[in-house]
Amino acid sequence: MLSGRRVVLGVSGGVAAYKAAYLARRLVEAGADVRCVMSESATQFLGAQTLAAITGEFPVLSFWDEADVSPHTALGQWADVMVVAPATASTIAKLASGTSDNVLIATALATEAPIVVAPAMHTEMWENAATQRNIAILAADGAHVVGPAAGALAGGDHGTGRMVEPDEIVAAIAGALQADLAGWRVVVTAGGTREPIDPVRYIGNRSSGRMGNAIAVAAARRGAHVVLITAAAAPAVAGVEVIPVETAQEMADAAWSRCDDADVAVMAAAVADFRPLLPSDEKLRRGEGMPEITLEPTPDILAGIASRSPRPYLVGFAAESGSLEGARRKATTKGVDLLVGNDVASPGSGFGTDTNQVTVYRPDGSAVEWPLLSKTEVADRLWDLIRDDRQGD
Ligand SMILES: Cc1cc2nc3c(=O)[nH]c(=O)nc-3n(C[C@H](O)[C@H](O)[C@H](O)COP(=O)(O)O)c2cc1C
Repeated sequence: MLSGRRVVLGVSGGVAAYKAAYLARRLVEAGADVRCVMSESATQFLGAQTLAAITGEFPVLSFWDEADVSPHTALGQWADVMVVAPATASTIAKLASGTSDNVLIATALATEAPIVVAPAMHTEMWENAATQRNIAILAADGAHVVGPAAGALAGGDHGTGRMVEPDEIVAAIAGALQADLAGWRVVVTAGGTREPIDPVRYIGNRSSGRMGNAIAVAAARRGAHVVLITAAAAPAVAGVEVIPVETAQEMADAAWSRCDDADVAVMAAAVADFRPLLPSDEKLRRGEGMPEITLEPTPDILAGIASRSPRPYLVGFAAESGSLEGARRKATTKGVDLLVGNDVASPGSGFGTDTNQVTVYRPDGSAVEWPLLSKTEVADRLWDLIRDDRQGD
């Protein structure tokens, strides 16, 4: 479950920090790729060198003087999951309020990965109204809070506040990583196809591939085996098999050959509708006069999959400008299970952005408009929907 997963371990300054070394060790043994970030106080309780020796990477200790110019965003974006163990009362308060005054908190704010929090403190601190308020906020914000347990505390005291044992934290991390798509075989297309006019020029479009990439990465993170057929730059992520293509024909050939084995096909690429009938073998030159380029239709990838029997659960995308009527029509006529429409002309939506505002159509024409979300959030919502549909919820 944790094999190949990227875990950021945040260590804050409590006595239980000594157990963070064992937690790091257990994560490494489970096959995870572990990187650590420590608060300044944490280094009073546990040597950074210890975590470096266990994980193979020196922990991030500060915003400044790190190899990376922006260590918190680099680490946050790298993470599949972040765990804060131990989480002190102070760190919990800062996480709850978004007080980004150290690199551990900033990393937690910068990540879109799930966060596991393992509180550790004296009973009085734990039961204090402020701590209880803060932990409730964190839980409501979606953090996975594990513990604390009752038992022996530092200084010979007893009570609730003890950090749960590392193995329980490992289990919580595995849970947070949600393997709800485990065993699924998924085909995703991404990017804009390029249809050659001559060896130099092509008919293309503005698709960056980010939406398709986010869908592929989210599925892999949730345990699916993903085939990503893409005409754009692909992410290097465990669980994603990349098939680079250029033209609509290449994309169709790859999609059709791989979709027979697939449980779900998400066609997020922006595929050219037309291509030059006879691309020139040689570069067209101005001096040779105005060329006449005759176009022919490209293969309809979606229709090719929809006509199969059996066929995978099928999701189409429609990039529209202005009205989404075309997306609705596609949903009702193309034989898909879901059709995701977006207006690429609206701000923050569509090509090249990190966000997207989509409307999801059913084959009966019914629609649900989602708010403006990061492409990762759109991807996760989409997978939630597909999972619920396939489970018959
Ligand atoms: C010996 C000692 C042990 C401490 N243990 C804890 C603890 O278990 N939990 C806690 O919330 N704070 C504990 N503290 C207080 C924190 O170290 C202090 O609040 C610090 O500012 C936390 O900073 P950080 O959350 O950025 O690591 C302890 C302090 C000392 C001196």
